[in-house]
Parts: sequence; C-alpha cells; structure tokens
Amino acid sequence: MIPESVIEEIKQRINIAELVGEYVQLTLKGDRYWGLSPFKNEKTPSFTVNPEKQMYYCFSTNTGGNIFSFLMEMEGLSFPEAVEFLGKRVGIDVHSAQSGSSDEFKERAALEELYEKIMESFMFLLQKKDIGTQALGYIRDRGFSGETVNKFKLGYSHPDPYWLHGFLQKKGYSERFLAKSGLFSKNNSRWSLFSHRLMFPIFKHRGAPVAFGARLLEGEGPKYINSPDTGIFQKRFNLYGLQLAKEGMKNSRSFILCEGYFDVLAFHQAGLVNAVAPLGTAFTEQQAKLLSRYARNGILVFDGDDAGIRASQKAALVMEKAGLTCDILSLKEGEDPADILQKNGSQELKNLVDSSTSALEYLISKAASESDSHSPGGKQRIFEQLFPYIRSIDSPVKREESLREIADRLFVSQRSVFEAYERFGSQEPGRRFAPRTVDSDQNPEEINDEEGLRHGASSAIRPLEPNVELHLMVAAVVYPEFFEHIRMQLQADQFEYWAARDIFIVLEEQFRSGEMVFSKILDNLTDKGIKDYIIKKATADEYGLELNVFFQTMILRVRSSILERQRAKIEAQMKLKERSGDAAGMRELQEEKHYLDSTLKELKESVHDRAAE
Ligand code: CTP
Ligand code: MN
Repeated sequence: MIPESVIEEIKQRINIAELVGEYVQLTLKGDRYWGLSPFKNEKTPSFTVNPEKQMYYCFSTNTGGNIFSFLMEMEGLSFPEAVEFLGKRVGIDVHSAQSGSSDEFKERAALEELYEKIMESFMFLLQKKDIGTQALGYIRDRGFSGETVNKFKLGYSHPDPYWLHGFLQKKGYSERFLAKSGLFSKNNSRWSLFSHRLMFPIFKHRGAPVAFGARLLEGEGPKYINSPDTGIFQKRFNLYGLQLAKEGMKNSRSFILCEGYFDVLAFHQAGLVNAVAPLGTAFTEQQAKLLSRYARNGILVFDGDDAGIRASQKAALVMEKAGLTCDILSLKEGEDPADILQKNGSQELKNLVDSSTSALEYLISKAASESDSHSPGGKQRIFEQLFPYIRSIDSPVKREESLREIADRLFVSQRSVFEAYERFGSQEPGRRFAPRTVDSDQNPEEINDEEGLRHGASSAIRPLEPNVELHLMVAAVVYPEFFEHIRMQLQADQFEYWAARDIFIVLEEQFRSGEMVFSKILDNLTDKGIKDYIIKKATADEYGLELNVFFQTMILRVRSSILERQRAKIEAQMKLKERSGDAAGMRELQEEKHYLDSTLKELKESVHDRAAE
C-alpha cells in the first residue's frame, strides 16, 4: 500500500493539463481544456480537462479521473505502477516511501496474515467439525469433488455470528485492527458478516487470500455476501479463480469468463482450468486489463436470463475496449455451468464451450430477436443496441467489417448501416439517442404496443408505464440506502415490468460493488427514457417524509402483485386440468392456490396496517 500522503504529494506536483497535453492536443475554452478523446476515434472533441479540480472527463466513453487513472488508461499500467512512474518525474521515490517501516505496509501484511488464518479455520470447520457436515453435504450434492474443495480451499463459517470475533480476540488482535478487516458489521463490530455460510476465499493473483464470498446455505437473506473493499482487496481489480487460472490461461492462450463462484468451480473440475469470474459485480475495465496479461481471447459464459444477457452485452463491450476478443456462449435460461456439469458431465461442458459464437454474432442475434429488422423503427433500435459496441472497436478495419456483418445478417443494405453509424458517431455526447417524442404519462395507448413492452431491448424509444414496480424502483434510485431492504424481499426476475427490472439489475450491481451513489447509479442506467424519468421524479420530491413506511408499503404492494400474477396463472392451469379431468394435478394446484391466497391475505393486511400507521 502506498501511503496516501505520497499519492497526494505527487498529485500536487504534477499538472494534469500538462500530462494530458503530452497525449492529446488541448485547447483552452473558458476555464477548461478540450480535445479529441484519446480513448476512441472521434471527430468532435468530447474530452475535457479541469485544471482546477485536477480531473479529466471523457464524454464519449463516460470515463474520467485524475493523473493516475489517465496514465493507467493510456499506458495500461496498474495503479502502483502509475504512481511510481509519476513519482519518478517529480523526484519522489515511491519504493522507499512504502518500505517496511511504513505503518500502512505493516497493517497490510497483518491483514493478509489474518485472512490466511481465518481461511484455514473455515476450512477446518468444513472438513473436520460436525457443524460443517451440512455444508460439505451441500457441496457434494451439487457434484463437486473433494479435490475441488481443496483446490479452492472452500470453508464453512461458524453458525454463531459472534464466534469469529471471540476467536480473533483470543489471538490478541486489537479492536481497531479488526474494525478495518472487512469481516465485521459496521453497526456491530463483534457481529461477523459471515455465519453459517459456505465460504469461497478470494485470492490475489499471487495467491494470498484477501476476501471472501459467502453463500447462503438455508433460511432467509441474500444468496451471497461478499467482503467489502479493504486495504488489501478491491473487487474491481480482482477476479475469482485467477490464482489457479493464470497458468491455464497462459497454456491455452485463452480465458473463460463466467458469472459466479460455482461456475468457476465447475469449469475447473471439468478440466477447463482457465476459467475466472468477476466478483459479484459487472465485469470491469481493470479486470479486462488483468486478463489481458495472460490471454487475449476467450469465451464469455453467462446465464440465459435477463441479467445474464445484459451482463454479457456489457462485458463484450468492456472486452473489446481492452483489446480482447471474445466469443459468447449463452446458456438456456435458468441453466448454469455447474448444473450442466452435474447433469451431463465434463464432456458436455467442453462441447458447449466449443459451440460458442463470436461476440458480434451473439449481439446481432440478441438485438434482432427483440426488434423487427424490417420496420424502420425496429432497425433503428437494433442499430442503437449494436453501435456502442462497434464504437468500442479500435481497429477501423475491424469496425468496417463488423458493420458489413450487421448489414448481411439483417438483410439491409451496407449503405444504410454505414450511414446510420456515421450519424450515430457524429452525435453530441449525451444526445446519442433520439429524444423521446412522447411523454409516457400522456400517451397511454403507446403502452400496449407489443414492441414497447418487450423486455431486454435498451432503447430510448420505449415509453414508460408508471406502475407500482416502476414507482418502487425509481424511489430506490433516489434513496439508494433503501435498496438493501428491497433486495432482501424481492429479486430482479420477479419483476414483470422491463424498466423496473432494468433498474433493479443496475442497483444490484452497484450494491455489490459498494457504490450506492445516485450519480453512479444514473451513469449505469443505459435507457435515456428511464434516466429522464428518474431525474424528473428526483426533483419533484414526492416521497414524503416517512420513507420507511413508503418503502415497506411499496415492497408489499409489489410482492402482492407478484402473488396475484402467480394466482392468475394457477387459475388458468386449473381450468385446463378441470377439462382434462386430472384429479391429482388439480389437487396440487388447489393446494398451491390456497397457499397463495393465504400469503396474499397476510400481505394485504400488513399493507393496510402500514397505511393506517
Ligand atoms: N452474486 C452476488 N450476490 C448475490 C448473488 C450473486 O455477489 N446476492 C454473485 C456471486 O459472485 C455469484 C454470481 O453473482 O457467484 C452469480 O450468481 P448466481 O448465478 O446466482 O450464483 P451461483 O454462483 O451460480 O450459485 P448457484 O449455482 O448456487 O446458483
Ligand atoms: Mn448460478
């Protein structure tokens, strides 16, 4: 860890406009400098440097930062490398400043040692203690071998949330140190974040454990709890499985990027030892850079559900920007590599990997399945989905080839694709999408437009329907601190309305990366219509003072609408069964309906109580 004071010192001594000026021709306009973005090809300047704040911002890639991030981007350096490089320029020897004598360095070493110890005790609880039997059984039931357990050093966290604190206190760790360890609750410093969970240690690529992912074994609560960022761990700079996969990637000259912990385990157990996963967040640029050290092409394997498709579209773009080439394998909805390994064995997983398609082909077919390529509006929507990806391609030759492929695949003329792309590329940043011509609140007949309601397509043209789901999720963006409450009670795929689901997915990603800030959340929403709507609502200040009551009432309303939908489905099925005279099937449905009815009744009563409060 480089001491904060050293970093500050270097920041003060280097003028950002001068540094950037070595790469970009800048012109001063008012109190800012402007130039063509160094991160992409463009004709109108969208890159700006603010000398007062010592920051830069690129409007066409929506990235910004300070002298260090600029150099990291331009030269592909890691943060410490950038600090060292710039330190040298101004006569600061970063190495001696961070040598063994510095407190931060010592603390970092102590944290690493702590994580090693804890990992070992979790392994011990899993394998040697009776309380670990259930977790071990769970792993076995999902088809994972003892060898996999050992390779990934899986563990089990004690069922008593106070156990870990007691255990470490006995070993003489100070309260102050433990508070910074990322192991305990912020509100209760003795309450471990992890209890009665299956533990996945997360390693630095050199091999030291620095964080945990923890899976729920039973009961209520989020499926995974992940360590927060600490002095030794930053999610966006790490990949799960890298310590094992880096050899595999070097040997095969390719990577597999999948979604989760169990997926990585499945690939490795199947002999595909080049698999890694992001850490419960969207795949980041930094992770792409990390991958590119070992291999420059590979395969993306994501779930076939909404969240998975969205994540793979985003990841493909990040890969392309980092100069990595990838194929995409999309699985059936609700199926993941771990299931496939368990049901069909290693060979099937290998066959699937061999059947992946190029990223562009995948993106085209996804976009085409969501809109009609023969109608002008549909074509435009498809283009709008694909062009950001095309724009991220560095090589003009490859860009052109890709545009041609789009034309061929959609049976439209190359000329119209090239022209549309020209128009798209020359638009002012921030006005990249056609402005919405109708205001959703005033145009109810648009709502029944089949096209408009179809989910997944991220196009600004779709009108919004103000409904309970949207109401709740928009409020959650305005007051992100309430999202934690929502995610305990609802999941993305339970939402019926595409816009609410899109917002939920972005909030979930932000939540997991620990950046629950209004502006960051807004940045990550891609639909212009949703953004505008949120901004409008945020400024209207219409949620009242009793936010707690508001949120709980809204959550209950959404939950009851979900149950009501399920109930309607069951009733429809009952009608069918009645006709076919299937008595056993009928009984089952009746039971389910009965269960739904009573849950609904309970929910409604509590909504009523809340409202009366
Ligand atoms: N994840 C998370 N927090 C959650 C849910 C998921 O951080 N509440 C992350 C984890 O890294 C997880 C990945 O997203 O591994 C993929 O999620 P999911 O497919 O739900 O989990 P799996 O690891 O596949 O677990 P399982 O196979 O048991 O569903
Ligand atoms: Mn899964």
